[in-house]
Amino acid sequence: MSTVLSSLPRRKFDVVVVGAGGSGMRCSLQLAQAGLNVAVLSKVFPTRSHTVAAQGGIGASLGNMSEDNWYWHMYDTVKGSDWLGDQDAIEFMCRQAPEAVYELEHYGMPFDRNPDGTIYQRPFGGHTANFGEKPVQRACAAADRTGHALLHTLYQRNVASRTHFFVEWMALDLIRNDDGDVLGVTALEMETGDIYVLEAKRTVLATGGAGRIWAASTNAFINTGDGLGMAARAGIALQDMEFWQFHPTGVAGAGVLITEGVRGEGGILLNKDGERFMERYAPTLKDLAPRDFVSRSMDQEIKEGRGVGDGTHVALKLDHLGEDVIKKRLPSIREIAIRFANVDPIKEPIPVVPTIHYQMGGIPANYHGQVVEWKDGEEKIVNGLYAIGECSAVSVHGANRLGTNSLLDLVVFGRAAGNHIIADKLHEQKAHADLHKESVTKSMDRYNALENRSTGLKVQDVGNKIRTTMQSHCGVFRTKELLNEGVREIAECAEQVKQIHFKDKSKVFNMARQEALEIENMIEVAKATIKSAANRDESRGAHALNDFPERDDINWLKHTLWYSETDSLEYKPVHMKPLTVDSFPPKPRTF
Ligand code: FUM
Repeated sequence: MSTVLSSLPRRKFDVVVVGAGGSGMRCSLQLAQAGLNVAVLSKVFPTRSHTVAAQGGIGASLGNMSEDNWYWHMYDTVKGSDWLGDQDAIEFMCRQAPEAVYELEHYGMPFDRNPDGTIYQRPFGGHTANFGEKPVQRACAAADRTGHALLHTLYQRNVASRTHFFVEWMALDLIRNDDGDVLGVTALEMETGDIYVLEAKRTVLATGGAGRIWAASTNAFINTGDGLGMAARAGIALQDMEFWQFHPTGVAGAGVLITEGVRGEGGILLNKDGERFMERYAPTLKDLAPRDFVSRSMDQEIKEGRGVGDGTHVALKLDHLGEDVIKKRLPSIREIAIRFANVDPIKEPIPVVPTIHYQMGGIPANYHGQVVEWKDGEEKIVNGLYAIGECSAVSVHGANRLGTNSLLDLVVFGRAAGNHIIADKLHEQKAHADLHKESVTKSMDRYNALENRSTGLKVQDVGNKIRTTMQSHCGVFRTKELLNEGVREIAECAEQVKQIHFKDKSKVFNMARQEALEIENMIEVAKATIKSAANRDESRGAHALNDFPERDDINWLKHTLWYSETDSLEYKPVHMKPLTVDSFPPKPRTF
């Protein structure tokens, strides 16, 4: 028998934010400071959200180290995105970047300082002065713990502003009415195993990425694509999911991130002959070319037999920076290298390989954070729903994100969504929309089906199959044959997900239940990714297809949309027109 609304406890808020990483907490801060009643749900304690792992910096053209401006930043971001980024959103982000960073500074974020007291900025991949002429120092850094500093700053500010945190709560599904408006979420309180209905005048998805659909990933275990699963099940398309970033420098064998800031400070990549091979692939930017470029070059070196050690990785040399710089600017990197690679980078290079790091695609949203659906050749707003941060596709990153633009995206669009919601004057709208008595039936039927299954497949086995299939079929270089085989194998996984079960049905902190629910989200992301990749017959940004090695702007300068219910694809145009300046038209991408 279906669970009906009246049997579940209900709580009401002006806004429910799902996720307490950088974007969720930047948004909630804006809302709480404006006096709105805002709840933030998080599977983990807020300061353990994955933003904490961001290392190298937040991009903003402060010009503290040499001349810089937002227009150069915009050009780099458009070029970095391989022209798939929406230029209105990119202008919005790059223009707002300095203000967003100064705001963090004033909130007390402990940035590193120059001798004159200004924020220290380091070079990062793809960031240049004067439209690609030379590298520029644009990454505002707090040592190699910038995300950590950001998250703690935002959490403290939120506590002071009386944001309600629901710690160790997992959102399950969106609640939509017959008109498609979003009215809140169903959610699991992990401590008790109880399900609640959280009603909201506005719901904000800020659930981060889904890097855990891959076997080797820099992502936290919590990154299971929960917001994407919720959106996909609610009938909302997932956009540009074929574009996944391999970060060039994950510790070989361990996957842990080694920040691009290492190369920003002067570290270099070497092959087995001791050659600084990036000079061949990217003569101007060398080791600081964008990530898709560097990852492919590394893969090429390894495939052509110039890998280091057992031939499966390359070397990241930084000993020449000197002990003082390493200890001052890269203290966590030294610790990670010692712990996970058993090398002290003051003396020896770190073994590194390209490792899955970031999803460029996500839930389609405009630059106010509003979720949009593609209907009758137009983008239509989904009333009541916002998506911000890595779970969203605004799309400022297009086919490849520049390093440091992710922390920037979090705070710029977290703040923008907050401001947009505030402008709606929610506190003047007293009542929440009525929930239909059947409004939670679909969500609870899914939950109960899993809960009541007493035999079937093990969650871990099915999860491993998803991860190994994605890893082997959707890598740095892709082929049609492998992708098509991947589509078939992920479809098999999807059938298996319908048969997963967990034996222990106890309610209190039952992680088996949570992992099973996460697999139901991960499979949506995996299906979207592999299907979208198998259908894009070109190479663009992070999607490098051996069968179609060139970018094809005539046929493929368009965003992919994947629909879960029909497992089908549709395409929509890229926003080529910025807000106030001239477009950057596509051109060949060399560095
Ligand atoms: O390399 C890094 O520090 C990662 C930064 C980013 O993904 O933006």
